[in-house]
Amino acid sequence: MSNSFVDPLDNPVVRQNAATIREFTGGVDVKLAVTLGSGVGPLADALTDVKRLSYDKLAEFPRPTVSGHAGELIFGYLGKAPVILLKGREHHYERGNTKAMAVPLRSLKAAGVETILLTNAAGSLKHENAPGSIMLIDDHIFFSVNNPLTGEQGDNRFVDMSQAYDLDHQESLKAEAKALGITLPQGAYMWFPGPNFETPAEIRAAQVLGASAVGMSTAPETILARHCGLRVAGLSVITNLGAGMGKTDLSHEQTVRVAAQATENMKKLVTAFAQKFAAIAAAA
Ligand code: HPA
Repeated sequence: MSNSFVDPLDNPVVRQNAATIREFTGGVDVKLAVTLGSGVGPLADALTDVKRLSYDKLAEFPRPTVSGHAGELIFGYLGKAPVILLKGREHHYERGNTKAMAVPLRSLKAAGVETILLTNAAGSLKHENAPGSIMLIDDHIFFSVNNPLTGEQGDNRFVDMSQAYDLDHQESLKAEAKALGITLPQGAYMWFPGPNFETPAEIRAAQVLGASAVGMSTAPETILARHCGLRVAGLSVITNLGAGMGKTDLSHEQTVRVAAQATENMKKLVTAFAQKFAAIAAAA
Protein backbone atom coordinates (compact mmCIF):
# COMPACT_ATOMS: atom_id res chain seq x y z
CA MET A 1 0.00 0.00 0.00
CA SER A 2 1.38 3.44 -0.90
CA ASN A 3 1.77 6.23 1.59
CA SER A 4 -1.14 8.60 1.60
CA PHE A 5 -1.44 12.01 3.19
CA VAL A 6 -4.82 13.62 3.67
CA ASP A 7 -4.52 17.28 4.61
CA PRO A 8 -6.91 18.07 7.49
CA LEU A 9 -6.80 21.73 6.44
CA ASP A 10 -8.08 20.97 2.96
CA ASN A 11 -11.68 21.64 3.84
CA PRO A 12 -13.98 24.49 2.74
CA VAL A 13 -15.24 25.18 6.27
CA VAL A 14 -11.67 25.45 7.58
CA ARG A 15 -10.69 27.76 4.70
CA GLN A 16 -13.71 29.97 5.23
CA ASN A 17 -13.09 30.24 8.99
CA ALA A 18 -9.40 30.98 8.37
CA ALA A 19 -10.37 33.85 6.07
CA THR A 20 -12.81 35.17 8.72
CA ILE A 21 -10.10 34.95 11.41
CA ARG A 22 -7.54 36.75 9.24
CA GLU A 23 -10.04 39.49 8.53
CA PHE A 24 -10.82 39.72 12.26
CA THR A 25 -7.13 40.22 13.14
CA GLY A 26 -6.78 42.78 10.36
CA GLY A 27 -4.24 40.55 8.65
CA VAL A 28 -1.89 40.58 11.68
CA ASP A 29 0.13 37.35 11.69
CA VAL A 30 -0.87 35.66 14.92
CA LYS A 31 1.30 32.64 15.62
CA LEU A 32 0.19 31.84 19.17
CA ALA A 33 -3.27 30.86 20.35
CA VAL A 34 -4.31 30.00 23.89
CA THR A 35 -7.37 28.03 25.00
CA LEU A 36 -8.75 29.27 28.27
CA GLY A 37 -9.78 26.54 30.71
CA SER A 38 -12.24 26.75 33.61
CA GLY A 39 -11.52 29.83 35.66
CA VAL A 40 -8.61 30.83 33.42
CA GLY A 41 -10.87 33.17 31.43
CA PRO A 42 -9.62 36.31 33.27
CA LEU A 43 -6.36 35.89 31.33
CA ALA A 44 -8.22 37.92 28.71
CA ASP A 45 -7.92 40.94 31.05
CA ALA A 46 -4.16 40.94 30.46
CA LEU A 47 -4.65 41.75 26.75
CA THR A 48 -4.46 45.18 25.19
CA ASP A 49 -6.15 46.38 21.97
CA VAL A 50 -8.77 43.69 22.45
CA LYS A 51 -11.22 42.60 19.77
CA ARG A 52 -13.79 39.87 20.20
CA LEU A 53 -15.44 37.59 17.68
CA SER A 54 -18.35 35.43 18.74
CA TYR A 55 -18.11 31.75 17.83
CA ASP A 56 -21.48 32.33 16.12
CA LYS A 57 -19.54 34.01 13.29
CA LEU A 58 -17.45 30.90 12.69
CA ALA A 59 -18.70 27.64 11.22
CA GLU A 60 -18.58 24.52 13.40
CA PHE A 61 -17.14 26.29 16.41
CA PRO A 62 -18.64 24.94 19.64
CA ARG A 63 -21.52 26.48 21.51
CA PRO A 64 -20.33 25.87 25.09
CA THR A 65 -22.91 24.87 27.67
CA VAL A 66 -20.82 25.21 30.86
CA SER A 67 -20.89 28.16 33.23
CA GLY A 68 -17.51 29.89 33.20
CA HIS A 69 -17.03 29.13 29.47
CA ALA A 70 -18.24 31.74 26.96
CA GLY A 71 -17.84 31.16 23.26
CA GLU A 72 -15.62 33.74 21.62
CA LEU A 73 -12.31 34.32 19.94
CA ILE A 74 -10.37 37.18 21.51
CA PHE A 75 -7.60 38.91 19.63
CA GLY A 76 -5.17 41.27 21.29
CA TYR A 77 -1.63 41.78 22.51
CA LEU A 78 0.10 40.28 25.53
CA GLY A 79 2.85 42.86 25.86
CA LYS A 80 4.05 43.11 22.27
CA ALA A 81 2.94 39.64 21.24
CA PRO A 82 -0.22 39.26 19.15
CA VAL A 83 -2.31 36.36 20.44
CA ILE A 84 -5.69 34.77 19.90
CA LEU A 85 -7.49 33.44 22.94
CA LEU A 86 -10.14 30.77 22.56
CA LYS A 87 -12.64 31.46 25.27
CA GLY A 88 -14.89 28.43 25.40
CA ARG A 89 -14.25 24.90 24.22
CA GLU A 90 -16.45 21.87 24.01
CA HIS A 91 -15.69 18.96 26.29
CA HIS A 92 -16.44 15.31 25.79
CA TYR A 93 -18.90 15.43 28.70
CA GLU A 94 -21.20 17.83 26.87
CA ARG A 95 -22.17 15.62 23.91
CA GLY A 96 -19.67 12.77 23.94
CA ASN A 97 -17.84 14.40 21.05
CA THR A 98 -14.04 14.38 21.33
CA LYS A 99 -13.81 15.88 17.81
CA ALA A 100 -15.58 19.08 18.79
CA MET A 101 -12.41 21.18 18.61
CA ALA A 102 -11.23 19.76 15.26
CA VAL A 103 -12.54 22.58 13.08
CA PRO A 104 -11.50 25.39 15.49
CA LEU A 105 -7.93 24.08 15.76
CA ARG A 106 -7.62 23.45 12.02
CA SER A 107 -9.06 26.88 11.26
CA LEU A 108 -6.49 28.54 13.52
CA LYS A 109 -3.68 26.60 11.86
CA ALA A 110 -4.99 27.54 8.42
CA ALA A 111 -5.09 31.19 9.55
CA GLY A 112 -1.36 31.02 10.36
CA VAL A 113 -1.26 30.00 14.02
CA GLU A 114 1.73 27.75 14.78
CA THR A 115 1.38 26.97 18.48
CA ILE A 116 -1.58 26.31 20.71
CA LEU A 117 -1.15 26.71 24.45
CA LEU A 118 -3.83 24.61 26.10
CA THR A 119 -4.81 25.57 29.63
CA ASN A 120 -7.14 23.74 31.95
CA ALA A 121 -8.19 23.25 35.53
CA ALA A 122 -7.12 19.91 36.94
CA GLY A 123 -7.05 17.79 40.05
CA SER A 124 -3.60 17.02 41.45
CA LEU A 125 -2.38 13.51 42.17
CA LYS A 126 0.54 14.82 44.20
CA HIS A 127 0.17 16.40 47.61
CA GLU A 128 3.13 18.68 46.92
CA ASN A 129 1.34 20.22 43.90
CA ALA A 130 -1.28 22.00 45.95
CA PRO A 131 -4.50 23.75 44.89
CA GLY A 132 -3.75 27.18 43.44
CA SER A 133 -0.48 26.04 41.86
CA ILE A 134 0.32 25.53 38.17
CA MET A 135 1.64 22.36 36.52
CA LEU A 136 3.42 22.09 33.19
CA ILE A 137 1.92 19.27 31.15
CA ASP A 138 4.76 17.23 29.67
CA ASP A 139 2.69 14.26 28.47
CA HIS A 140 -0.78 12.81 28.72
CA ILE A 141 -2.71 9.58 29.15
CA PHE A 142 -5.81 9.32 27.00
CA PHE A 143 -7.41 5.93 27.58
CA SER A 144 -10.60 6.22 25.59
CA VAL A 145 -12.20 4.40 22.70
CA ASN A 146 -13.58 7.76 21.68
CA ASN A 147 -10.50 9.01 19.81
CA PRO A 148 -10.89 12.41 18.14
CA LEU A 149 -9.22 11.09 14.97
CA THR A 150 -11.55 8.13 14.46
CA GLY A 151 -12.73 8.24 10.86
CA GLU A 152 -9.88 10.43 9.58
CA GLN A 153 -8.27 9.27 6.37
CA GLY A 154 -4.65 9.12 5.26
CA ASP A 155 -1.57 7.60 6.84
CA ASN A 156 -0.99 10.87 8.66
CA ARG A 157 -3.86 9.90 10.99
CA PHE A 158 -1.30 7.66 12.73
CA VAL A 159 0.06 10.60 14.65
CA ASP A 160 3.37 10.21 16.48
CA MET A 161 2.70 11.22 20.07
CA SER A 162 6.16 10.50 21.45
CA GLN A 163 6.78 14.22 21.98
CA ALA A 164 3.29 15.68 21.79
CA TYR A 165 4.02 18.57 24.16
CA ASP A 166 6.71 20.61 22.45
CA LEU A 167 10.05 20.38 24.22
CA ASP A 168 11.23 23.89 23.27
CA HIS A 169 8.00 25.33 24.62
CA GLN A 170 8.40 23.31 27.82
CA GLU A 171 11.89 24.69 28.24
CA SER A 172 10.71 28.27 27.72
CA LEU A 173 7.82 27.89 30.13
CA LYS A 174 10.17 26.48 32.76
CA ALA A 175 12.70 29.26 32.23
CA GLU A 176 10.03 31.99 32.37
CA ALA A 177 8.46 30.47 35.49
CA LYS A 178 11.85 30.37 37.18
CA ALA A 179 12.54 34.01 36.28
CA LEU A 180 9.15 34.98 37.71
CA GLY A 181 9.64 32.95 40.90
CA ILE A 182 6.69 30.70 40.03
CA THR A 183 7.09 27.05 41.02
CA LEU A 184 6.26 24.95 37.96
CA PRO A 185 6.32 21.21 38.53
CA GLN A 186 5.79 19.09 35.44
CA GLY A 187 3.92 15.88 34.85
CA ALA A 188 1.50 13.82 32.82
CA TYR A 189 -2.15 14.79 32.61
CA MET A 190 -4.62 11.93 32.61
CA TRP A 191 -7.87 12.49 30.80
CA PHE A 192 -11.17 11.35 32.27
CA PRO A 193 -14.46 11.69 30.38
CA GLY A 194 -16.43 13.36 33.19
CA PRO A 195 -18.71 15.04 33.96
CA ASN A 196 -18.54 13.31 37.34
CA PHE A 197 -15.29 13.69 39.22
CA GLU A 198 -13.21 10.54 39.63
CA THR A 199 -13.62 8.02 42.42
CA PRO A 200 -10.78 7.64 44.95
CA ALA A 201 -10.03 4.22 43.36
CA GLU A 202 -9.71 5.86 39.94
CA ILE A 203 -7.38 8.45 41.43
CA ARG A 204 -5.20 5.70 42.96
CA ALA A 205 -5.19 3.94 39.58
CA ALA A 206 -4.11 7.15 37.83
CA GLN A 207 -1.27 7.55 40.36
CA VAL A 208 -0.10 3.99 39.72
CA LEU A 209 -0.17 4.69 35.97
CA GLY A 210 2.20 7.59 36.44
CA ALA A 211 -0.08 10.59 36.03
CA SER A 212 0.40 13.77 38.05
CA ALA A 213 -2.95 15.44 37.34
CA VAL A 214 -6.43 14.53 36.12
CA GLY A 215 -8.93 16.48 34.08
CA MET A 216 -11.69 16.41 31.48
CA SER A 217 -10.24 18.36 28.58
CA THR A 218 -6.99 19.02 26.69
CA ALA A 219 -5.89 15.51 25.64
CA PRO A 220 -8.30 15.25 22.65
CA GLU A 221 -7.26 18.78 21.63
CA THR A 222 -3.59 17.86 21.80
CA ILE A 223 -4.21 14.89 19.49
CA LEU A 224 -6.18 17.04 17.04
CA ALA A 225 -3.57 19.79 17.18
CA ARG A 226 -0.67 17.42 16.48
CA HIS A 227 -2.62 15.88 13.60
CA CYS A 228 -2.95 19.26 11.89
CA GLY A 229 0.65 20.27 12.59
CA LEU A 230 0.19 22.68 15.48
CA ARG A 231 2.86 22.71 18.16
CA VAL A 232 1.36 22.21 21.63
CA ALA A 233 2.12 23.54 25.08
CA GLY A 234 -0.02 22.77 28.12
CA LEU A 235 -0.56 24.25 31.57
CA SER A 236 -2.87 22.92 34.28
CA VAL A 237 -4.16 25.09 37.06
CA ILE A 238 -4.42 22.77 40.05
CA THR A 239 -7.78 23.42 41.69
CA ASN A 240 -7.96 20.47 44.08
CA LEU A 241 -6.34 17.27 45.18
CA GLY A 242 -7.75 14.20 43.45
CA ALA A 243 -10.81 12.56 45.00
CA GLY A 244 -10.00 10.87 48.29
CA MET A 245 -6.71 12.75 48.72
CA GLY A 246 -8.04 15.86 50.44
CA LYS A 247 -10.79 16.90 52.80
CA THR A 248 -12.77 19.29 50.58
CA ASP A 249 -15.75 18.18 48.51
CA LEU A 250 -15.25 18.51 44.77
CA SER A 251 -17.52 20.72 42.70
CA HIS A 252 -17.44 22.87 39.58
CA GLU A 253 -17.93 25.94 41.78
CA GLN A 254 -14.76 25.03 43.68
CA THR A 255 -12.86 24.45 40.42
CA VAL A 256 -13.71 27.93 39.13
CA ARG A 257 -13.07 29.61 42.50
CA VAL A 258 -9.65 28.05 43.12
CA ALA A 259 -8.57 28.51 39.49
CA ALA A 260 -9.12 32.23 40.02
CA GLN A 261 -6.43 32.15 42.76
CA ALA A 262 -3.86 31.19 40.13
CA THR A 263 -4.98 33.85 37.65
CA GLU A 264 -2.22 36.34 38.47
CA ASN A 265 0.52 33.74 38.06
CA MET A 266 -1.09 32.40 34.89
CA LYS A 267 -1.27 35.94 33.44
CA LYS A 268 2.41 36.53 34.23
CA LEU A 269 3.58 33.18 32.94
CA VAL A 270 1.55 33.19 29.73
CA THR A 271 2.53 36.81 29.03
CA ALA A 272 6.23 36.00 29.49
CA PHE A 273 5.88 32.92 27.29
CA ALA A 274 4.12 34.95 24.59
CA GLN A 275 6.93 37.58 24.65
CA LYS A 276 9.61 34.94 24.30
CA PHE A 277 7.61 33.23 21.58
CA ALA A 278 7.15 36.49 19.63
CA ALA A 279 10.87 37.28 19.93
CA ILE A 280 11.83 33.85 18.58
CA ALA A 281 9.24 34.06 15.79
CA ALA A 282 10.53 37.52 14.78
CA ALA A 283 14.13 36.28 14.66
CA ALA A 284 13.25 33.21 12.58
N1 HPA B 1 -10.90 15.80 38.17
C1 HPA B 1 -11.23 16.04 36.89
N2 HPA B 1 -11.31 17.27 36.39
C2 HPA B 1 -11.00 18.29 37.21
C3 HPA B 1 -10.65 18.10 38.54
C4 HPA B 1 -10.59 16.78 39.04
O1 HPA B 1 -10.27 16.51 40.23
N3 HPA B 1 -10.42 19.33 39.07
C5 HPA B 1 -10.63 20.23 38.07
N4 HPA B 1 -10.99 19.61 36.94
